Amino acid sequence: MAAGRCSFCGRRDTEVPTLVAGPGGVAICPECAELAIQISRERTDPRFDGDLLVTGIGRLVTNDSVGDDLIGEVPDATVAVRDGKVAWAGPAAALPYRYRDLPELDCGGRAVIPGFVDSHTHLVFAGERSIEFGRRRRGERYEDIAAAGGGIRSTVAATRLAGPDLLMEGAIARAGRMLAAGTTTVEVKSGYGLEPLTEVHLLEVANEIGERLPIDVVPTFLGAHAIPEEFEDLRQAYLWMVTQEMLPVCAPLARFCDVFCDRGAFDQDEARRVLQAGVKHGLKPRLHAGQLANVGAVELAVELRAASADHLDHCTSEQAALLAESRVAAVLLPAASLSLGTMPPARMLWDKGVTVALATDCNPGTSFVERMPFVVALGVLELGLSPEQALWAATRGGSLALELPDRGRLGPGALADMVVLDADSHLHLSYRPDADHTWKVVKRGVVVSG
Ligand code: NIG
Ligand code: FE
Repeated sequence: MAAGRCSFCGRRDTEVPTLVAGPGGVAICPECAELAIQISRERTDPRFDGDLLVTGIGRLVTNDSVGDDLIGEVPDATVAVRDGKVAWAGPAAALPYRYRDLPELDCGGRAVIPGFVDSHTHLVFAGERSIEFGRRRRGERYEDIAAAGGGIRSTVAATRLAGPDLLMEGAIARAGRMLAAGTTTVEVKSGYGLEPLTEVHLLEVANEIGERLPIDVVPTFLGAHAIPEEFEDLRQAYLWMVTQEMLPVCAPLARFCDVFCDRGAFDQDEARRVLQAGVKHGLKPRLHAGQLANVGAVELAVELRAASADHLDHCTSEQAALLAESRVAAVLLPAASLSLGTMPPARMLWDKGVTVALATDCNPGTSFVERMPFVVALGVLELGLSPEQALWAATRGGSLALELPDRGRLGPGALADMVVLDADSHLHLSYRPDADHTWKVVKRGVVVSG
């Protein structure tokens, strides 16, 4: 602590009763303590929009494509941020004079990319399923374990028992790790309650995470994730409950409605019914489509103009053409695919002109994965995307899949959500897939991690 003076009012230690350590360890007098605490709180308030001049950027990924350069890379760049939004981005030498007084973050030649947009997660749950994972890797099928009461149903049992506080504890820890790895926007689904009260709790926890951490949460209602045990032989009654009892209380807490439309889950007609009811409550559709088998979920996504069709491990080239034509985004989840032993035709989807996004699918069953850099590496090493395609899909692709065009790029008007990599190029994300590449995370112009 710097001795002698209060760093707020400047009075000497001889003029005030005592000096104490304030926020950040600065010397402070008791009269200024409240003000100091308020200012430091503003700095970490997730809704606080910052002003910042990000300098010394060795390579800036803007995602404003120019010709063959998909990710619009600018060498020796600067980004000027006002009120949490990018005001200017370009070569350092061309920085307009009016931005020179902004508070500076010098990146020392490191690469800067847009914050990751994780467009598919089941972040809020209790328990874990490592025993089931072991059984699957020894040869048992996901669907057989689920049919025997394991799988989603076992997480539902743990989640119903947990209660909101315990759910928050686990989910906020995961969200914090996601943020520290560079995720600045995350979609979060319900779907492990499967009865009205717990589904409401899951969405409330999701929304509260966005208030407690500097990360934007996009909540999705997934009441049709599985048929719960108590409705085993009562499918119609369960669908009635989803559309008539859950949707009215869950819709105000969500932005999208999702259905697990697949073999052993919900068929095309059932999914249509739920998604159409969601639309009546103001929720835009998105779909788990073709993770285990092809049951017409892609066609349904196109019919309902869904925001996205996700998984797509069994997508045909005809279906890819449909997605491209209809502008439904394809959210690919390589960590889940790896664990189930299938892979979506990522390159084919990309080449047909589909908007491709990459996401974690964070859940305790098929993909206990939190970090988007790992997913980018899988996109390159397992799905065969180029490093630029994978990075674009994890940032801009995710923003388009969530219908949030104000992020996932770093040009004028975009949210100033950025990751400063501890490397001079984004290539290191997949070149050194096991390294921690995140030097600092910036959310709306405020350094929130690193
Ligand atoms: O996206 N497919 C449905 N939902 C999850 C898995 C959920 C679970 O197994 O708990 C998924 O992979
Ligand atoms: Fe999922």
